[in-house]
Amino acid sequence: MIADKHQNPQARRYHTAFVSNKNRPTSPQSPLLEFALNPPPETHLKHVLVVSYSQTGQLSDIATQVIGPLRKAGHLVHLETLLPATPYPFPWPIVDFVDAMPECVQLDAPPLKPLTIAAETDFDLVILCYQVWYLSPALPMTAFLQSESGKQLLHGKPVVTLVACRNMWLSAQEAMRRLIAEAGGELRDHLAFTDRGHPLATFITTPRWVLTGKRDRFLGMPPAGVAPEEIKGASRFGCALADALERNAEKSNQPMLTGLRAVSVNPRLAISEGAGRRAFAIWSRLIRACGKRGSWQRRPALLLFSVYLIVMVLTVVPTSLLLQWLFSPLLKSRLEGLRAQLELPSGSQEFNLEKYDQSR
Ligand SMILES: Cc1cc2nc3c(=O)[nH]c(=O)nc-3n(C[C@H](O)[C@H](O)[C@H](O)COP(=O)(O)O)c2cc1C
Repeated sequence: MIADKHQNPQARRYHTAFVSNKNRPTSPQSPLLEFALNPPPETHLKHVLVVSYSQTGQLSDIATQVIGPLRKAGHLVHLETLLPATPYPFPWPIVDFVDAMPECVQLDAPPLKPLTIAAETDFDLVILCYQVWYLSPALPMTAFLQSESGKQLLHGKPVVTLVACRNMWLSAQEAMRRLIAEAGGELRDHLAFTDRGHPLATFITTPRWVLTGKRDRFLGMPPAGVAPEEIKGASRFGCALADALERNAEKSNQPMLTGLRAVSVNPRLAISEGAGRRAFAIWSRLIRACGKRGSWQRRPALLLFSVYLIVMVLTVVPTSLLLQWLFSPLLKSRLEGLRAQLELPSGSQEFNLEKYDQSR
């Protein structure tokens, strides 16, 4: 059950209805008279918390597209940008990049700077925007979900997750689902934005991007990251959410963003991701047994892990994709079942695209 804000007098609203009503049509009367004659439809004005962290700005660009229609509809949106106490570098020096793996996988996140809102602020909906680091949620989002403030902000609230990454987000979303449940939040919808380049090409273009900052076309491969038209199309989710909030749909137990091609899962990648996840779990424990993040004692194990990663990408991944392609007629029904299950709750259907996709 969603906690009813009216049952909790301690909870602080993010702002007054007056402020959140500023984008609604106004009458020529004075504001006080207008309020007395025509009180704002408070049940329809919602308070939305958007939590985000982005290194290149890709994820914040997507979040901005979602927030726009919500604000336009008069809902009050607070964007909380996470600030790690010690910032992560960008572009990543190679050693720091590899050294981040064990803590990402073990969900051992360094702390954040204090949030800009009080933990007891009462929101109607929370949107968590995150990227994937080593098949896990990026450390700033993990830190938020494990923090006392994060847990308090999520408790009893409907939650939408939004991921933007290369193309492997299934394990990370599983961790998000767990962390959200532990905080007492209710995952309602999930949106995934990925790099539509060939999986083998993005194994080169994504590391090139995060290690050098260069995102452009490279050796005939497409630019790294989520395509600009996909980013622009993210506004459809803001439009649909604005309508859902207007109908109080966030109070039901149903997803609000079906029919909008919220996610599309490649079940073949899911199989490779599962194998990667198991390998990362072993390597992360092994490397952490050698020493703390940043310590020289970890370096030999990190070197071995880097060699393993390169060999995997060059040999095992293409072989596994080739085998799955060869056997796909036999695996077809199993893979389809897997796809449908992994695409829950928001799914890949498109029946609402025409209604909400302004970029079409
Ligand atoms: C340390 C690190 C590890 C990453 N691991 C993955 C991964 O396992 N799967 C994936 O799809 N993308 C991965 N990425 C790509 C990110 O998810 C993301 O797309 C990229 O960092 C840009 O995000 P941002 O600029 O919004 O922060 C990784 C990036 C970094 C920096």
